[in-house]
Amino acid sequence: MLTLSEMAVDVLTTADGREKTAKSHAHAAAWRAARDAGTPLEIGSATPPLRPSRPAEPELLSPREVPKRKPGSPQGRIALLHAVAHIELNAVDLHWDIIARFTDTRFPLGFYDDWVRAADEESKHFNLMCDCLEELGSHYGALPAHAGMWRAAEDTAEDLMGRLAVVPMVLEARGLDVTPGMIEIFRKAKVDSAIAALETIYAEEVGHVAYGSKWFHFLCGRHDLDPRDVFHDLVRTYFKGGLKPPFNEEKRAEAGLPPDFYWPLANETPHTKRTT
Ligand SMILES: [Fe+2]
Ligand SMILES: [Fe+2]
Repeated sequence: MLTLSEMAVDVLTTADGREKTAKSHAHAAAWRAARDAGTPLEIGSATPPLRPSRPAEPELLSPREVPKRKPGSPQGRIALLHAVAHIELNAVDLHWDIIARFTDTRFPLGFYDDWVRAADEESKHFNLMCDCLEELGSHYGALPAHAGMWRAAEDTAEDLMGRLAVVPMVLEARGLDVTPGMIEIFRKAKVDSAIAALETIYAEEVGHVAYGSKWFHFLCGRHDLDPRDVFHDLVRTYFKGGLKPPFNEEKRAEAGLPPDFYWPLANETPHTKRTT
């Protein structure tokens, strides 16, 4: 039997998206079955790759080079689903990466329950997006995708609190802000499969942000740190450019992110000239 860390590395080093997510589902099921039987798997230790394996397609471009398409057109809707599929595939790797990368830090088993569940859900999200793309005559890999998505993981490869602050509490929380607008686009176009898929994603992402907030606060408590101040410092260190309102205050609250965590970071733009 593999240890949980070895399972994580197995997912991270699998390139094909459908194959990666099939392994992710299988390993998550094995973890849960062992937990339910009262015989949890060993966490173990394994070395995750600095960058996960990815399929030959999509071609990865810098954000400036990724062509913008109007969301109101069929091509625009395909591009939107393709971008979400790419985010979900990165999210699968991000959750397995946090499991394998920080095994030197001692945690209750609930930490692993949460991230295994998140990885399992992201795997479902990726497959849902692929199914929608295929229904619309496209597929994941057909369009270029954002190259910078693993940046946050590399920047925080040695800082677990930075990882929790930036990945679930900033990037995944941003998903809560923008998903309702996406659902609206597909409602207008009457694409039922995409509406249902995005609603599943929207509901489950609240949990991922909540796991981030939970374990961030856990570590702050362990080290007697003020969570809000530490959060602000870490986001300023690892996430340049500030956060972009409007915020989904209701869902953020549900996920354990109070307004004084994110509002002070809104629209901090150190790289743009201020006019006042
Ligand atoms: Fe997701
Ligand atoms: Fe997520």
